[in-house]
Amino acid sequence: MDGKSVELAGVTMVFDGFTAVHPTDLHIPAGEFHSILGPSGCGKTTLLRILSGFQRPSAGHVLIGGEAVDHLPANRRPTAMIFQSLALFPRMSVRENVAFGLEARGISRRERSARADELLALVALEAHADKRPDQLSGGQRQRVAVARALAVEPAVLCLDEPLSALDLKLRQHMRTELRALQKRTGVTFIYITHDQGEALTMSDRISVMNKGRIEQVGTPTAVYDAPATPFVAGFVGEQNVFTGKVTSVEKEFARIDGPGGTFTGRRTPDVALGDQAVLMVRPERTGLVDDERNGVNRLAAQVEGRELEGPYLNLVTRDATGRRIVLHLANDGSVHPATGATVIGFRPEDAIVMPVTDGRAAAVAEH
Ligand SMILES: Nc1ncnc2c1ncn2[C@@H]1O[C@H](COP(=O)(O)OP(=O)(O)OP(=O)(O)O)[C@@H](O)[C@H]1O
Ligand SMILES: [Mg+2]
Repeated sequence: MDGKSVELAGVTMVFDGFTAVHPTDLHIPAGEFHSILGPSGCGKTTLLRILSGFQRPSAGHVLIGGEAVDHLPANRRPTAMIFQSLALFPRMSVRENVAFGLEARGISRRERSARADELLALVALEAHADKRPDQLSGGQRQRVAVARALAVEPAVLCLDEPLSALDLKLRQHMRTELRALQKRTGVTFIYITHDQGEALTMSDRISVMNKGRIEQVGTPTAVYDAPATPFVAGFVGEQNVFTGKVTSVEKEFARIDGPGGTFTGRRTPDVALGDQAVLMVRPERTGLVDDERNGVNRLAAQVEGRELEGPYLNLVTRDATGRRIVLHLANDGSVHPATGATVIGFRPEDAIVMPVTDGRAAAVAEH
């Protein structure tokens, strides 16, 4: 199997006057594991349906392997799609499910069966070929769906939130399996999810989508550590958020003055003196500082509670303005205060300052 590149050029979708997808350009190289990450209703499924030919866009073009496929229906495109529901055939055996797509291609029964067994071996289900889907676990059914989709040898495999029905442990296991399978086959994977953990662990690159627009395309590290917009910063991972007016801009840093105090962080290039801005810092980059009230980026807070996550501990605090500030601390045996007054702080290089434009403030508040 060989992957192919995917290109969206000005793809737009308007439903009855509602723009579900604003004009979108995206290039995905052959063999990439690409995730489309965003909240419910942001247009992820619509984009994937357009790409695989189930939905005709209002405008724009789709190219696969450098060739326009606009005129091709879904079954003639080199794509396969796995829907959230999986849609396995309940009365057919696992082997028949996998072989199903090959029948329409005029492949002999014997060859279909042999090919299905090969694919079942690929997803480590050869021992289950004669079972029906209802005799399998959720993760096994998931793998049948993947094998069935790969049977038609797609160059691009589209997966629409395929793991959302599985429990946490199985989901984490399947992440690793899907990623390994993608590497092994070289097929381009386009993977829709609203789960940032999934996108960060599996992808070569991620498109972060909000309200019908891709706000950032980048590697997991880029999207997490250098978010391009407040929405991306707030949606991918957690942030402690401070607001204020920009009172100093110096090289790559900016300072804001707000109700909670004066804070400094790295800045995006578009920050200007006098802007309304947000400063965001990750809970794992926010720490307790003993009696250093005079340092940079320090503030007094009250500890309100602690949530144990196993290896980590969330310390939930509130500052004098009532702002909730969360600290994500390693559960390393040190004693953290469960209640009472404390001083928290963060390094300027761990915080990011971005200007707030109309829409952007709302995006931060929502998350
Ligand atoms: N056939 C349709 N007719 C009208 N509106 C539609 C149609 N399909 C989708 N929409 C609207 O387009 C928007 C995007 O829908 P889409 O299914 O792409 O979202 P999504 O990002 O996949 O969300 P989810 O994570 O909930 O699956 C939604 O507001 C939805 O109501
Ligand atoms: Mg969807």
